[in-house]
Amino acid sequence: MSVVLNNPLHRKLRMALIGGGGGGFIGRVHATAAQLDNRAVVVAGALSSNPDKSKQTAPAFGIADERAYGSYRELLDGETELPAEGRVDFVSIATPNHTHFEIAQAALKAGLHVVCDKPMTNHVAEAEQLAELVAQSGSVFALTHNYTGYPMIRQARAMIEAGELGEIQAVRANYMQGWLCGMELDPNAPRGVWKADPAKAGSGSLGDVGTHAFNLVGYVTGLRATQLSCLMRSFHPERPLDDYGHVAIKFDEAALGMIIFSQITHGRLNDLTLEVDGTKGAISWRQEDPNQLVVQRTGQATQTYDRDPAAGYTNELARDACRIPAGHPEGFFEAFANVYRAAFDDMARHAAGEAIDSRCTAYPNVHDGVEGVRFIAACQASSDVDGQWLPIA
Ligand SMILES: NC(=O)c1ccc[n+]([C@@H]2O[C@H](COP(=O)([O-])OP(=O)(O)OC[C@H]3O[C@@H](n4cnc5c(N)ncnc54)[C@H](O)[C@@H]3O)[C@@H](O)[C@H]2O)c1
Repeated sequence: MSVVLNNPLHRKLRMALIGGGGGGFIGRVHATAAQLDNRAVVVAGALSSNPDKSKQTAPAFGIADERAYGSYRELLDGETELPAEGRVDFVSIATPNHTHFEIAQAALKAGLHVVCDKPMTNHVAEAEQLAELVAQSGSVFALTHNYTGYPMIRQARAMIEAGELGEIQAVRANYMQGWLCGMELDPNAPRGVWKADPAKAGSGSLGDVGTHAFNLVGYVTGLRATQLSCLMRSFHPERPLDDYGHVAIKFDEAALGMIIFSQITHGRLNDLTLEVDGTKGAISWRQEDPNQLVVQRTGQATQTYDRDPAAGYTNELARDACRIPAGHPEGFFEAFANVYRAAFDDMARHAAGEAIDSRCTAYPNVHDGVEGVRFIAACQASSDVDGQWLPIA
């Protein structure tokens, strides 16, 4: 069996992509994921900070010359001059961290929906301004914490919400990479040079991968982190930004959490793991093996749940996140597309005149973005005072 896909809008949404030109990584992923279910089409783009590169790359995304813009400002000006039935519905922001705020703010002010990559902004005040703007505009705002889109992550979330693990006592999320090991910084690298610049990246591994782990903990458990103690270091000889850290977390319930993020662990690729301990059972999941969820209960054999939309044990939230029958692997693109799919549902509701509750969404939203930026700021402040416990505010 395969899951039936729905498109309440009965037309494709028109997407503008910002970033992704000249070998940019995640812009291409946004374009693929957004178009996976045939509910959107990339029609416009400002793909690079260099106007020539931006226009040169546009054909590779299927963007016509007249909608290949030299900058995001040109794009917003050009698109808002078009009749409503032709202009883009939303922009996807896949640019370096320091540009997210100004692009998202301008797109919301232009009346467009926004899909933005993480971390949402480099400063808490900017993140809070975006949340206010989303509330005022009524537009849809989705943040691509794409790991929330995996069916077995959704399975875990629904199981915890239904009380199947009992009370949650402890959560551990680690995001381990090793790509900085022995890496010499190359100022002419085709992509990602900005990641070593504090003024652009805002943080190192913390914002790059630690925020994904933090978001996943909240998404799966529903727990709200209130205080943290963080120690992080920059072990790279030339790079001034953090590349390893651990964060102890207290939640508003009695639960405790621990997050470790690393980009200096030899041999690790995208090793994001999540473990949750409850009074009735424990679960564990690994991003590099995303179609399986391990469930353990004392005295019982270990169970492995497969991503199987036809299996009796799969809950509705997980089933709705699957596209194809079990055994055919689904992965990164499909999970990413699930964030888009849920945002498209809200864009369709918005087009039908329904008000969107920006706090209550099936995808990571602007408020999750604010939490993520507050998390980064609190980790940096705590690490600066040798791991002192601080509120996440
Ligand atoms: N969700 C995820 O899994 C994930 C993965 C990687 C990166 N990211 C995030 O995505 C963003 C981009 O990261 P990346 O790894 O793709 O970086 P990258 O360096 O590979 O690509 C950045 C792209 O932005 C373009 N760009 C830069 N400034 C621009 C501007 N002002 N206007 C238009 N385009 C501009 C560049 O030309 C390039 O195409 C970052 O915020 C990063 O944190 C998210």
